[in-house]
Amino acid sequence: MELTTNNYPNYFGDFTFEHCSESVSEVQRARLMNSSEFQKYMSLNWENQKRESATPLESKDYASARREKLRNFYDKETLIVPAGVPKVWSNDMDYLFRPHTAFAYLTGLGKDYEADAVLVMYGDTNEKALNGKDILYIQPPYDSRTPEFYKSAQHGEFWIGPRPKLDDFHAWTGITIKDIKHFPVDTGLLDKAKVLAVTGVDAKVDKLIDVKQPKHQDFARTISELRLVKDPYEIQELQQACTSTALAFRNVARLLPTLNGVAKGERFVEGEFNYAARTLGNGVGYSTIAAAGKNATYLHWVQNNGTVHDGDLFLLDAGIEMDSLYTADITRTIPVNGKFSATQLKVYNAVLEAADEAFKEAKVGNNYSDVHDKAMEVIAKRLVEWQIIDSDPNPLESKTQPHRRFMPHGTGHHLGIDVHDCALARDSLYTDGCIRAGMVFTIEPGLYFREDDELVPDEFKGIGVRIEDDILVTEDGPIRLSGMIPRTATDVEAWVQGKISIVPDENELKDAVNKALS
Ligand code: GLY
Ligand code: MN
Ligand code: MN
Repeated sequence: MELTTNNYPNYFGDFTFEHCSESVSEVQRARLMNSSEFQKYMSLNWENQKRESATPLESKDYASARREKLRNFYDKETLIVPAGVPKVWSNDMDYLFRPHTAFAYLTGLGKDYEADAVLVMYGDTNEKALNGKDILYIQPPYDSRTPEFYKSAQHGEFWIGPRPKLDDFHAWTGITIKDIKHFPVDTGLLDKAKVLAVTGVDAKVDKLIDVKQPKHQDFARTISELRLVKDPYEIQELQQACTSTALAFRNVARLLPTLNGVAKGERFVEGEFNYAARTLGNGVGYSTIAAAGKNATYLHWVQNNGTVHDGDLFLLDAGIEMDSLYTADITRTIPVNGKFSATQLKVYNAVLEAADEAFKEAKVGNNYSDVHDKAMEVIAKRLVEWQIIDSDPNPLESKTQPHRRFMPHGTGHHLGIDVHDCALARDSLYTDGCIRAGMVFTIEPGLYFREDDELVPDEFKGIGVRIEDDILVTEDGPIRLSGMIPRTATDVEAWVQGKISIVPDENELKDAVNKALS
């Protein structure tokens, strides 16, 4: 049928499609791999795969201690924490699955094959055998004798390769494991009034509860708050994430001087970083920001399609996520040609000073907001000195907060499995809370002078600088886990000129962290 203005339907439902044939023949059914002969043939002659026996994960005892801590908040309730379901990329293609942070934290797991799994920590139930038990419900791999083996693109081993068996999960985590098919059955024994769940992650969990009840949000918040202080395993993983990220930054510094005038040069940097991320870790912990010249004035520039020019500053904000899902979040701003201009240097040193002064405030007993306030003090002072803002009224006290025009983001955030970790924690424990030993957060002041800003002298226009480090708080003071990547202007210049190379000494950093924590 040819569409004309006369027969064009006014809604799609007007269409009827003519089928080529009414009935499907036996052979056609076979061609669709639906014949019983084909199914029988496919179920035979697969050798038993040899499997290595699974051993406990390094995170096993830590995850168990985390569940115990959580249990201390809720002695009678049943707690449900889903891993989540795959997210559609398009049609039948999914994004690489990443389990929900609360699930990863409480199980120590963190792989794509945990899609659809649910952790249930039973409290008081109508079924005595379940009381006080933690059970992980998970989809077992489809057996080669079932059609799903070659039909399910999500869980069939013909599609996705060998998958762990249920007893592997038990060996790794120490948690009792059950086939996911028992999940709604077991939880049917619950008194809904005594269930708390992480909601909005898996529809089959949301269906069991009244998701609107605020108690579920409170529950998710408690898990977020538990993560504010890291255990030694988490610190080790964050430290490793920083070391791996440092190696990637080293490779970028070697590449950068070769990119003068290269169209989409930013993508070369992104590619170099992401290559390291996929080979040294699980991948990037967030979208890499690779920004040359004026693109560095856009806070989250992730298009990364700009040309790199001689004389540009290059801002790279990137982090490697380890297999455990803990990520680094580090920024360096580097002159492409190996030399800061006078104005670039002025801006760079102001940001470095803000970072260094803020770092000194990152000590036990201080308020978390002291770190930010100190950075703002330095930034405002320098902007006044350059006559970009007025000193009267005091910018820090004024309602306009004029200095924030040039740094409209916070000075940092907690870091962990999520790059913006513990995001649900109450202000009283986070932004307005006290700094405690074992916290890990970023310090990341910046200055951004947009090209189109009429309030900025020409010499500053198009300059964007951010310096971001990942900080571990110890009783003896803060440690910069990312401090092996050059920070001072002189070191950054020498680094990009190839005069110094960073090969992060993992052991040195490990020793410092262990000493501080012992
Ligand atoms: N890379 C995102 C951030 O620094 O918060
Ligand atoms: Mn950050
Ligand atoms: Mn960052």
